[in-house]
Formats: sequence, C-alpha cells, structure tokens
Amino acid sequence: MERTFIAIKPDGVQRGLIAEIISRFERKGFKLVAIKIVVPSKEFAQKHYHDLKERPFFDGLCDFLSSGPVIAMVWEGEGVIKYGRKLIGATDPQKSEPGTIRGDLAVVVGRNIIHGSDGPETAKDEINLWFKPDELMATKPLSREEIANTEKKLDMP
Ligand code: GTP
Ligand code: MG
Repeated sequence: MERTFIAIKPDGVQRGLIAEIISRFERKGFKLVAIKIVVPSKEFAQKHYHDLKERPFFDGLCDFLSSGPVIAMVWEGEGVIKYGRKLIGATDPQKSEPGTIRGDLAVVVGRNIIHGSDGPETAKDEINLWFKPDELMATKPLSREEIANTEKKLDMP
C-alpha cells in the first residue's frame, strides 16, 4: 500500500497544531504507520531539503526545520501521496485554498507548518531518511468498504 512522509514543522508543533493535523489525515481514512518527535540537526535538514540547495531561502529553511521539535510521520493509504498534498494545500498559505491545512492554519510561506512528500520517489527517500525499517508498523490497510462503512466492526491489526 502507498505510503508518504509527512512532518509537522517546528511552527506547527509550537503552535499546538499536532492533534488538528493528525486528525485531518485520520478522518480522511489514512493510516498512521510511524510517528516520532525529533529535533533534526541542521545537517539532517539539509539532507531532507537537498533538492532545494540552490534556492536563496535554503539556509533559512534548514535553520528553521532544525530549530525545534518536529513530528515525523508515515501515513498509508490509497493515493496518500497526492491526496496528502491536497489536504496540506499550496506551498504559499496565501494561495492555499480554505479547507486545506495551510489554507486554514498558516499565513506565510516560511512558516507553513507541515511538509509532505511530493511524489513516489521522494516519499520513498524521505521515509528511508527519517525512519528505520523496524519503526514502520506492518499494518493491515483499511479496505474501501471499511472506510465507507462505519457500522461494520473494524478488523484492526
Ligand atoms: P514541503 O512540503 O515543505 O516540501 O513544501 P512544498 O513541497 O509545498 O514546497 P517546496 O518543496 O518547493 O519548498 C519547501 C519549503 O521551502 C516550503 O514548504 C516552504 O517552507 C519553503 N519555501 C518554498 N518557497 C519559498 C520561498 O519562496 N520563500 C521562503 N522563505 N520559503 C520558501
Ligand atoms: Mg517539497
């Protein structure tokens, strides 16, 4: 089943938005398969954002990601990479639609509270960068019927 890497950045953690953000992914029907709280080093942040190293904001971005606790997560579900980005909204919160996480909860691009992998390759690389294989739960994914039918008792692992 498809998996993506999602991180609540230091501003989201500091503002007390952890539960709000997790709740949006859970209510959609995605499944949390790994989670930890960690303060990344600057070197680690540079690895995470390596594809942006030529951008003028790279240094500030890496300083910021390493400035405090981050909630690192892996979420699983059908279409979770693309739809996770939809839940998150556009990079610049001024351009994010209302109803998205950034649209509802953030104001400026440098403090946009959440990260989500932008494709299958980056999802794989980012999950491997942030997590060891034994930190990922081998869960039974919810079927479409289970997501749609709240009456049915869930057969959870
Ligand atoms: P992530 O999910 O964090 O990777 O954001 P994204 O995929 O929507 O955007 P992108 O990967 O292009 O940029 C990574 C992060 O760099 C963004 O989330 C912003 O926090 C920051 N960023 C992007 N563009 C700008 C910019 O023009 N100025 C500043 N200050 N920060 C930017
Ligand atoms: Mg990105």
